[in-house]
Amino acid sequence: MNGGGSSPVREARAPVGQMLGIGAIASALGIALALLIDWFPVSASEEAHQIDTLWDVLLIVSVPVFVLVVTVVLFSALRFRMRPGEELADGPPIHGNTRLEVIWTAIPAVVLVALCTYAYVVLTNVEEAKADTMDVRVVGEQFTWTFYYKDSSGKEIVSNQLYLPKDRPIQFAVQSKDVLHDFWVPAFRMKIDAVRGITTHLRVTPNRLGTYPVVCAELCGLGHAAMRQNAHVVSKDEFEQWLSKKASGAAAPAGGGGTAAGGGAAPDGKTIFTTEANCASCHTLKDAGATGTVGPNLDEVVPALSKPEIQQSIEDPNAKITDGFSPDIMPGNFKETLGDNGVKAVVDYLKEVAGK
Ligand code: CUA
Repeated sequence: MNGGGSSPVREARAPVGQMLGIGAIASALGIALALLIDWFPVSASEEAHQIDTLWDVLLIVSVPVFVLVVTVVLFSALRFRMRPGEELADGPPIHGNTRLEVIWTAIPAVVLVALCTYAYVVLTNVEEAKADTMDVRVVGEQFTWTFYYKDSSGKEIVSNQLYLPKDRPIQFAVQSKDVLHDFWVPAFRMKIDAVRGITTHLRVTPNRLGTYPVVCAELCGLGHAAMRQNAHVVSKDEFEQWLSKKASGAAAPAGGGGTAAGGGAAPDGKTIFTTEANCASCHTLKDAGATGTVGPNLDEVVPALSKPEIQQSIEDPNAKITDGFSPDIMPGNFKETLGDNGVKAVVDYLKEVAGK
């Protein structure tokens, strides 16, 4: 019935009206749905709300574009499909439509330039240098992050866990010892690649107390998924206490064990195992409630080992590899980050509880 010779112009107008109607309704539904979805974890930085708003604006603009393209494609495929008997027929020759081409070039150009400008403004705001910034050096390696702080005397303090005071601007200097990693705290929204040979920077101001995952966002090898630690956002006082405790020997740097008599309480092996060194994310140990399967089950392997053997397995994980497991997965920096006393505490703890 449509093959007849009645006015083709009117026939062409009707589908455009229909498509616009369908497109407008589908866009409205799509935008509502996209904004209803809870895309992100809780936000814990001053920068987060700007990023979340940028995300919402991008959704609002891109959903109609998606809907428009899909509507036109589906409508055309249905309305103008080949029917039986038309196998050899050809459509009328078309030369093009200058006005239409100008419009469909100009509108996307304007939309893109506007969004790029907005994103650039957000990026500039978020990366702006702020007064009273604290520097933290972050080093990625297969497969762990290590965090370095400076104490008041300029001495470097090493930690396996990221501690940050609330409401203080932080500048991370991010480095890698081996391959590409990517330093990311989803709750802060910001992330940046860790690239061997250069230092990249990331600014963030934590503004919510709590513990948030630090993850690696660049596929970096077999242990990539285990490259997870915690960012603890704490009060200013709590942070100062933690830093001075660290400085006084709990994490004496490698080789500096001789001066580690900081006078503090002996480090607690179980605490180090479950939180500071995060052994629990990769190993199973009943006493610590740990169920990781990336590395050997410690309840099975530890009872057969002597204390020096356990110590070697922590400080130099590649020295002996349990059957069925791969080398180079466990980080080799525990001697540095836990200090001699820390490693000893973990060895004693393991010897005491493993297999029980
Ligand atoms: Cu480091 Cu993925």
